[in-house]
Amino acid sequence: MSNQYNYPKGYSLLETTLKANEFLNNPINFVNKSMDKFGETYTATVGTNKLILTKNPDFINHVLRKNHKNYMRSDMTAKRGAQFFGRGLLFSNGDYWLRQRRLIQPAFHRDKLKGLYQNIQQTIQDYLVDFPTGEEIDIYPLMHDLSFRVLIKSLFEIELSKEVMAELNQIFEELSVFLIKDVNMPLRKLFYPFTGEERSHLKKGKRLRELILNIINERKASTEEFHDILALLIHSTYEDTGESMTEEQLIDEVQILISAGHETTGNTLSWLLYNLASNPSTQQKLIHSIDASTVEDVLENDYLKACINESMRLFTTSWTTERVAMGDDTFESYAYPKGTVVVPFFFGVHRDQKLWEDALLFKPERFVEDKKLVRAKKYFPFGAGPRMCIGNNFALAEISHFLFYFFKSFRIEKIASTPKLMPLLTLRPDQVILKIERR
Ligand code: HEM
Repeated sequence: MSNQYNYPKGYSLLETTLKANEFLNNPINFVNKSMDKFGETYTATVGTNKLILTKNPDFINHVLRKNHKNYMRSDMTAKRGAQFFGRGLLFSNGDYWLRQRRLIQPAFHRDKLKGLYQNIQQTIQDYLVDFPTGEEIDIYPLMHDLSFRVLIKSLFEIELSKEVMAELNQIFEELSVFLIKDVNMPLRKLFYPFTGEERSHLKKGKRLRELILNIINERKASTEEFHDILALLIHSTYEDTGESMTEEQLIDEVQILISAGHETTGNTLSWLLYNLASNPSTQQKLIHSIDASTVEDVLENDYLKACINESMRLFTTSWTTERVAMGDDTFESYAYPKGTVVVPFFFGVHRDQKLWEDALLFKPERFVEDKKLVRAKKYFPFGAGPRMCIGNNFALAEISHFLFYFFKSFRIEKIASTPKLMPLLTLRPDQVILKIERR
């Protein structure tokens, strides 16, 4: 039966099982090593499932763009994720996903986002007032905290208590850590009845919904006029019925926006500062370009944009994703049945020497010299196709404003330690220790 298919070379079930620990200890290293061995596309066998991992941009575009209708997010992530974070955009599929995406997309249009800029600017400026300076500052928790505040403030234009912010932050963190282990180590499930781990995390998921509902209700009860994402979501109506989302759907989508938006942006900011600290002449050039501009034209600053794009290439926060084939499919000489999971390895594409000159160097100039590069079919910082990141313009606006205000006041230097790559749901650094001084 399986003879009609032609999988890429790769690991048998036994080999995949024997190497599971090696993969879990250092997934990026393991996938890189496997690609050195088998080529840019290879197969792994997990239980009865075949996974095809690839850093071939044509294959990735085939799955995410050209033939996207044949693919959806696997149950392994979508159904499982929805149990803890709700059935928002990231964890839904098919017609339901499409209807939600059409409803929510307009709220993230560039023109709509302009209404949030003042809020974003204020939150960043307030955060920088007491920003620490010194010889050894770990900026990772600070960037994480900042991105969380900016997102919460953009979603709900109300002041939340420190306690609520801390509880929200903690639950998101705990659920993400649980979920990544749950997906990566299927055997853990056998122990849940004894450890009570699943039950306690489902409880945390419930508590999260409760907290979000309280915030939504508090925000709705206020008579002020708001310019936040919640207002846009509440007033969005479905094309077919003219109705708006139910309360449950609203909670789902708000949860997903927070979950998909804050860690990715916090990580991206951390890697970006690390790259700028490691490349003093680039930092100086960026500071010149910021000093010569105003905050109103920050989104038009080509050098600043290039620094962000280059950092997202070299340290791709969303380092991978996955899709399952709904029907049999072929790509070049490969043929595989429905149920096969394709795993695009964005991190590998972005560091491939065949695709990028000086692939391992931080060179923002490449994005200045070639303006089309940001749309090239080998660049996937926000994914590709119809499920591409809905918050990309929001994230870019936040990061650009942050760079503007930060480098107006501060200068940074790398000290000896190099951050360790921590590829969890997103690629985070273990820490980013920098010397920070006022300019
Ligand atoms: C630098 C920051 C960010 C990065 C690197 C990033 C990256 C990505 C990527 C790669 C995807 C596609 C995943 C896939 O194809 O499976 C995605 C999807 C998504 N992102 Fe982002 N993201 C960022 C910020 C944000 C923000 C700020 C928000 C919301 C405010 C957001 C909301 C979402 C949502 C809801 C999806 C799911 C879209 C769908 O499936 O229709 N992201 N993101």
